[in-house]
This record gives sequence, structure tokens and C-alpha cells, in this order.
Amino acid sequence: MTTGTQDLLLSRIRDVPDYPKPGVMFKDITPLLADPAAFTALTDALAELCVSCGATKIVGLEARGFILAAPVAVRAGLGFIPVRKAGKLPGATLKQAYELEYGTAEIEIHAEDLADGDRVIVIDDVLATGGTAEASLELIRRAGTEVAGVAVLMELGFLGGRARLEPALRGAPLEAL
Ligand code: PRP
Repeated sequence: MTTGTQDLLLSRIRDVPDYPKPGVMFKDITPLLADPAAFTALTDALAELCVSCGATKIVGLEARGFILAAPVAVRAGLGFIPVRKAGKLPGATLKQAYELEYGTAEIEIHAEDLADGDRVIVIDDVLATGGTAEASLELIRRAGTEVAGVAVLMELGFLGGRARLEPALRGAPLEAL
């Protein structure tokens, strides 16, 4: 991706102070989504990463990850599989719990949508503490599927998500645009 494209994407991310609570600077991607040039550039860049890491399926993480991963799947010609917060998928699921700042959360996947020999890339908007991405990699492995990588728009480096995710990646790439 060129620095011009990076600058375009960065310019469309809005900092919202004290949201959702005092002291937090929220990274709002809605201006990027509202700009077709920026959204297309992001979709193209993520689709290129999917192809270059040899992915055969794309997992998107609820909810903002869905918005990014679905057009990427169409652009890359790959299947899209949602990882949802617990209780939203109707079929047989694999569940994975993970730690939040306060308490725990649970995510689920329809494992039957992954096939033997698939290589899965996980797409999300933000890597913060890495807990959500880590749990999604656990789900993919428990489904018996290989991890091709993780791709996010933004990485909040000061939260240490990359270091937390490293063991779960087992050498697969983590790309933050
Ligand atoms: C956000 C974000 C990532 C996750 C990153 O999701 O979209 O999925 O947090 O945080 P972590 O690296 O600390 O796990 P969240 O569920 O808060 O919101 P959303 O449903 O709006 O995507």
C-alpha cells in the first residue's frame, strides 16, 4: 500500500475523545466507510493481503469486522464466515470465551462452514488488547483449520495486542494497515 493510501485512510479515521468512557480516545471508522474512495482503497488493500497470504476463507469479527471483511471477501473471490458474539448463530457452533477488561465474553463460529484444507485469514477493524483476535484464532484451530493470518485496519500499539497474539499466530502474519 502506498503512503498516499495510508494517509487517505488515516485522514478518514475520526478521534472521538472520552468515548465510550472518560479517558478513552475512540477511533471512529464511519468517515472512512462514508468515503467511497477510502473504503475502496481499504477493501483493495485487504483483498491483496488475503491473496498474498494464500487464504481460502475470510473470517470477519462482529461487528465492525463484518463491515470490512464482507466486501473484501467479494473482491478476493473468497467465502466469508462470521465470528459472532454468543447466541447469534443458529446452527451448531464452537464457542470460545475470552477475558475483557471487566469480565469475560464469548464468541462463536459455524465450524461446518470451514472445510479441510482451508486457510483462514481473520479481518477486523482494530487490534487493541488482542483478546478478540486471539479467541478467533483459537476457534479456527479448534475447527481443525489452518490460520493464514490476521489483517486489521488499525493496531493500537500501546495496548500490546501484537505481543499477546504472537503465540496464537504460530508464525502466521499479522498485518496492520
Ligand atoms: C472492538 C473491535 C475489535 C475488538 C478489539 O469490537 O471492533 O473487534 O474490539 O479489541 P481487543 O483487541 O481488545 O479484543 P467491539 O466488540 O468492542 O465492538 P463492535 O461490536 O462495534 O465491533
